[in-house]
Amino acid sequence: MSPAPANHPPQLVDRYGRVVSYVRISVTDRCDFRCVYCMAEDMEFLPRAQVLTLEELAYIGRAFVELGVQKIRLTGGEPLVRRNVIQLFRDLGALPLRELVLTTNGSQLPRMAQDLRDAGVRRVNISLDSLRPDRFRKITRVGDLHQVLAGIEAARRAGFERIKINAVILRHRNDDEVIDLVRYASDRGMDISFIEEMPLGIIGDHDRAEAYYSSDEVRRDIERVYTLTATTETTGGPSRYFRISETGTRVGFISPHSHNFCDTCNRVRLTVEGRLLLCLGQEHSVDLKRVVRANPGDLESLKQAIRDAMAIKPRGHEFDLAARPVIIRHMNVTGG
Ligand code: GTP
Ligand code: 5AD
Ligand code: SF4
Repeated sequence: MSPAPANHPPQLVDRYGRVVSYVRISVTDRCDFRCVYCMAEDMEFLPRAQVLTLEELAYIGRAFVELGVQKIRLTGGEPLVRRNVIQLFRDLGALPLRELVLTTNGSQLPRMAQDLRDAGVRRVNISLDSLRPDRFRKITRVGDLHQVLAGIEAARRAGFERIKINAVILRHRNDDEVIDLVRYASDRGMDISFIEEMPLGIIGDHDRAEAYYSSDEVRRDIERVYTLTATTETTGGPSRYFRISETGTRVGFISPHSHNFCDTCNRVRLTVEGRLLLCLGQEHSVDLKRVVRANPGDLESLKQAIRDAMAIKPRGHEFDLAARPVIIRHMNVTGG
């Protein structure tokens, strides 16, 4: 694919004046783990014909870049379990982006970290909710902690500019590991973000209201041991960042329940079925797969469909832990 010209002016502005400069692309709904907050145990995955090809994903990525998008994050499911996905990273890496980044569960990094770095991936976010093998297995239902820790080491060797650990903290499951996780990250010069669980999809054997552990509680746990200083740093994401004075580690809090960040939302999401989702917490979407398949090679019609979609970007999400989830889609379809 030939690189598009650099410095495309921003063309994606919604009704509230928010500029969309960041796209999260889910490259597969499949995953080798079954995290309790993300999936039901017996998930059914999409049939292949419904899923965008890697070429279609790269083509849509190019349209976004020409509309002024500066950051693309590939997510899943687990993006690295998709066959030949490295080609997509290479194609997107050739576009004039400020950054190409990845969110992964880490399991495939031992074999892929170096190729990803070479394809132009700048930063990786790796999910890690527990440092105890038995607990890690319970939370992921099937995951192997040692494989993920080996993946993190492979990422460190590959020389990414930054590695961030993502931890979803759940009451009675891993809330006593906050300090251990902070220490693990700071010992290795990595950032860490703590995420409040969001009610996406119905998961029968998991009670979200009971498991809710707020960012303020995590912060209080950290402050028993370390000094946290608020910073104004941002990666263009919803995290509020702090630094640990003693170690310099950057700690982020993603708090969709306790601190709403929708006013500054700069992102949209593409599901692997080609649905452009205008908000993680709402159903507003546009079917880009239909546009791409109805007008092969007509990049302008695709760009126009994306521009038009800005008119339906909602003001924000309305998550409610006590009610049944309004969003039926599981997180693996959306990519977080
Ligand atoms: P950077 O800031 O670029 O490091 O990334 P990030 O923290 O936005 O991305 P990451 O993929 O690591 O996501 C971490 C968590 O933040 C996931 O659970 C996402 O679902 C959540 N998240 C990211 N963007 C949004 C958003 O727009 N709304 C909500 N509610 N959650 C989000
Ligand atoms: N709520 C919050 N975070 C979630 N993740 C997956 N499902 C949920 C959920 N329901 C997290 C993963 C990963 C990130 C992309 O999203 O742990 O770190
Ligand atoms: Fe897989 Fe990530 Fe969902 Fe866990 S949270 S099941 S690793 S997609």
